[in-house]
Amino acid sequence: MYQVLVLGNVRPEGLDILRAFADLTILPEPAQKPDILACIGNMDAIFHKIGKVDRDIMARQKKLRIIARHGVGLDDLDLEAVREQGIPVSITADANSNAVAEATVGLLFSALRHLSRAEAMIKRDRRWNRESLAGRELKGLTVGIIGFGRIGELVATLLSGFGCRIVVHDADPAVTSRCGYPILSFEELMRTSDVISIHCPLVAATRHLIGEDALKLVKNDCIIVNTSRGGLIDKKALAAAAEEGRIGGAALDVFDKEPPDFDDAIFSCDNIVTTPHVAAMTVNAQTAMAVGAANEIRRVLVEGLPPTNNVLS
Ligand SMILES: NC(=O)c1ccc[n+]([C@@H]2O[C@H](COP(=O)([O-])OP(=O)(O)OC[C@H]3O[C@@H](n4cnc5c(N)ncnc54)[C@H](O)[C@@H]3O)[C@@H](O)[C@H]2O)c1
Repeated sequence: MYQVLVLGNVRPEGLDILRAFADLTILPEPAQKPDILACIGNMDAIFHKIGKVDRDIMARQKKLRIIARHGVGLDDLDLEAVREQGIPVSITADANSNAVAEATVGLLFSALRHLSRAEAMIKRDRRWNRESLAGRELKGLTVGIIGFGRIGELVATLLSGFGCRIVVHDADPAVTSRCGYPILSFEELMRTSDVISIHCPLVAATRHLIGEDALKLVKNDCIIVNTSRGGLIDKKALAAAAEEGRIGGAALDVFDKEPPDFDDAIFSCDNIVTTPHVAAMTVNAQTAMAVGAANEIRRVLVEGLPPTNNVLS
């Protein structure tokens, strides 16, 4: 039997595929580094949902043949250390895009129409004050999409139906040729958008992409939605802008540290809607990611083939 390390809570549909050819070591969330170090030398594959895989861990591995991501984000992996050892990393490319795109639209409406505050008013506070909940309609607004990849494009398609104007910024010039929406510079998009939705990866160049300087550019009623990665936004700068009325509000599904420090100022801002990284938390997406990642491991270990979605090739 092969040995597979499972990092995170994975649906049984994926684990059942693996159990047919492998013994599983399952480290539930959040996986601790000493526990990973203790077993990594014996592993043929990592099924990676959540947990840092750093250079120390890679140095300790002896026979690893694949790291299969349950999802698409690569920010938990030290890619340089993985690449140096020539180990493929697969992603489950389209398994969660629709779930995240739909959640993005939901979060946007929650922020525009103050739905979380409305719910809390009735259920928690037993109050009825409708005027304080006057919101805005999406129709006619300009929505700026940062990162026109799988999810960004889907969000643009879904939102187009609401009669808003979509504009796009992407670091990849090739996007221009396949994107039917106006392409703007980052600064132009920040200045002209009523809503900004972030869909780019977290890498060194994008850490705190939305920081103090970027927030100075936006309209003072702009709504910022982030279902990508928490590190893309400087949370202190965002909380200050929200508290001082320099932005209209924000909707955040992701945080620089998860679970976050609940004392962070963002959790005290009335105009910031927050959810605990649930954008891809649908049964459909979780099953598709679990099965997709397990099949990549089977392909490599059992069939001796390269993964179908190797991001390090
Ligand atoms: N909340 C969740 O549960 C969840 C689930 C899935 C994905 N995500 C996150 O969503 C993000 C997007 O995922 P995807 O599948 O659409 O990725 P993708 O790779 O298909 O698209 C990313 C796009 O961002 C662009 N980009 C890269 N750097 C940029 C920059 N500096 N400025 C503007 N654009 C830039 C790329 O060119 C690409 O077009 C990732 O950060 C991923 O980790 C979150």
